[in-house]
Amino acid sequence: MSVARESWGTRIGFIMAAAGSAVGLGNIWKFPYVAGENGGGAFLLIYIGCIVLFGLSIVMAELLVGRMAQRTPVAAFREVAGRGWSLVGGMGVVTAFIILSFYIVVGGWTIAYMLYTVDGALASTDSASLERVFTELTGGTWMPLVYAAVFMALVAGVVLGGVGKGIERAAKLLMPLLFVILLVLVARSVTLPGAGEGIAFYLTPDFSRVSGETFTAAIGQAFFSLSLGMGAMLTYGSYMPRDHNLPADATAVVVLDTLIAILAGFMVLPAMFAAGMEPGSGGAGTTFMVLPAVFDAMPGGPIFGFSFFLLLTVAALTSAVSLLETVVCYFVDEYGASRRGATAGSALVCFLIGIPASLSFGLMSDVKIFGRTFFNLLDFLSSSITLPLGGLLTALCVGWALGPRAIRAIGNDGRIAVPWAGVWLFVLRFVAPIGIGWILIQGLFF
Ligand code: PFF
Repeated sequence: MSVARESWGTRIGFIMAAAGSAVGLGNIWKFPYVAGENGGGAFLLIYIGCIVLFGLSIVMAELLVGRMAQRTPVAAFREVAGRGWSLVGGMGVVTAFIILSFYIVVGGWTIAYMLYTVDGALASTDSASLERVFTELTGGTWMPLVYAAVFMALVAGVVLGGVGKGIERAAKLLMPLLFVILLVLVARSVTLPGAGEGIAFYLTPDFSRVSGETFTAAIGQAFFSLSLGMGAMLTYGSYMPRDHNLPADATAVVVLDTLIAILAGFMVLPAMFAAGMEPGSGGAGTTFMVLPAVFDAMPGGPIFGFSFFLLLTVAALTSAVSLLETVVCYFVDEYGASRRGATAGSALVCFLIGIPASLSFGLMSDVKIFGRTFFNLLDFLSSSITLPLGGLLTALCVGWALGPRAIRAIGNDGRIAVPWAGVWLFVLRFVAPIGIGWILIQGLFF
């Protein structure tokens, strides 16, 4: 059964909604600490390389498959390229489950921090006490689960509200606000005493810190941040009218997402140095432990703090919505499930998988699977394996199975000029598969 397709009202509506999926915890919670752990400047350079070399082309490929088929991922791959390719969509659905399960845990933390800014729990500049606040929250058993459940319920609520109404409206209104607050916080962070060293760390590539792992981390982060490699972008493409200039819209989304990640680095890393913390020492808690000191050092700090965590929660929500939407659409499209039932069922399963992910920071912190906590395992499986693999297969599908057909479709049969369509196809056929393949193999086996 196929669902009636609503379309994005306007070009800016589409860009904002797709950027709403892309811009989320990946940019603001994850990017700064992954960059810190992987050498700062060198990581930034390799990250940007991954975005330019693979990211943009594969975003275009995914949007195109969606737009051509006007279907959800599994059906879309089957329809445009044949039965076997639907496996790529299937892997995407599994990946969405995995990501959502740990995403809601961090989404829960942002809600908690929003409340902390109100009750004054964060009013300190001392990094030891800020670390304590974070470990007390995340190391607890029940409270993080309650927050994760609240976050999951919010996500399910938006998904039930339908495409046009819920997501588009919220994203259009709040994304620009998040951007402004980010700029203000960057301005404060880079002017803190001692921040200069952090800026240097972030902007000076030190290649002695680069290893195979840096590449794995960069490509995983690029795919995660762009919501790429699991069908989320494909689903957005299926709502995109044919007369939209797809390459231009895709470029806008990629630029926005990358800009916000880079800014988040400027917000967190200099402040981290100013607080005397080692880069890479804060792990998943970095953003949460560093930012309160920035708020504290500004007039009206609690107001900024509250607004920041509120907007971060909303940004996380729009991203999580696109994850749940991918899963729900699959059950509705493929099995004729009711939207309500599919939403409730998927949300419940994700929450259940999220329980051990949350407990990874407390009760289950000693439980290691393949040397990783459950939370880190979910993150590793999705970011470092299934997303890049999904992207690689999407590149092969559009590059080889569709080939010239893709070139015609991306230019809407000659109505839109895409002067570098040949380069795009070359990237999909050779550059992306070889590059991503190499990174995947060296990451897994060496
Ligand atoms: N791109 C989101 C972020 O950066 O937070 C995470 C994400 C959302 C990944 C949706 C994948 C996805 F399908």
